Amino acid sequence: MKREPLYEGKAKRVYATENPHEYVVEYKDDATAFNGVKRAQILGKGAVNNAITAHLFPQLEAAGIPTHFIERLSDTEQRVRAVTIVPVEVIVRNVAAGSFSKRLGVEEGTPLARPVVEYCYKSDALGDPLINRDTAVALGWASEEDLGRIRELALRVRDFLTPYFAARGIRLIDFKLEFGKTPGGQVVLADEISPDTCRFWDAATGEKLDKDRFRRDLGGVEEAYAEMLRRVTSEAEGGKQKAEG
Ligand code: C5P
Repeated sequence: MKREPLYEGKAKRVYATENPHEYVVEYKDDATAFNGVKRAQILGKGAVNNAITAHLFPQLEAAGIPTHFIERLSDTEQRVRAVTIVPVEVIVRNVAAGSFSKRLGVEEGTPLARPVVEYCYKSDALGDPLINRDTAVALGWASEEDLGRIRELALRVRDFLTPYFAARGIRLIDFKLEFGKTPGGQVVLADEISPDTCRFWDAATGEKLDKDRFRRDLGGVEEAYAEMLRRVTSEAEGGKQKAEG
């Protein structure tokens, strides 16, 4: 398949193909944190994140959430629908952690009485600042209607993933999603769902099994990513399927 590099982000490269309706996404081992200040390679990360995303997206699709995903092509590559990414990152939180805890002085691990949806402007130069929906509409990043649909889909992703991970011994603390628009104007889930973009805590031990191991120098980064691939692709454990909060 012919490929023309289109865009290189911190963790992935996007290529145009001979089919104008499809892109190829290549997942890299490169890891960055604190807006690119901290950089390293996490061996096997690209393959793990590609595999986890390729495992989850078809299940989300089957649950009625449209996505850009078409198929996994290789260890580190997948074929996706060509969409225009909405420059608004959507964070969904079940439990206080990370920037939410820091900003509001709420101890990490405090359960939230309802899921919280936050919006950030997707801008490396500005460090993905927190915004609200009025800002996104006022600056032309998304319409009110698109943002309503994005919020609805983000919460449906949460309603699918939270019990999915619980059944595999993982608490889904929070996660970040990106959405794209097709040429026909449909809003679809894009980007990835992986230990780079979610907080995963082991339900039994509380151990962090996500990128916080890299951000916070906790060690065992590769092992945590490999363990999450194992959990995601494992069968649900009977009786554990219960939503957080
Ligand atoms: O840092 P913060 O607490 O805001 O992160 C919330 C969630 O969003 C975490 O799961 C984090 O991995 C994810 N995130 C992301 N990309 C960003 C910011 C946060 O994947 N640029």
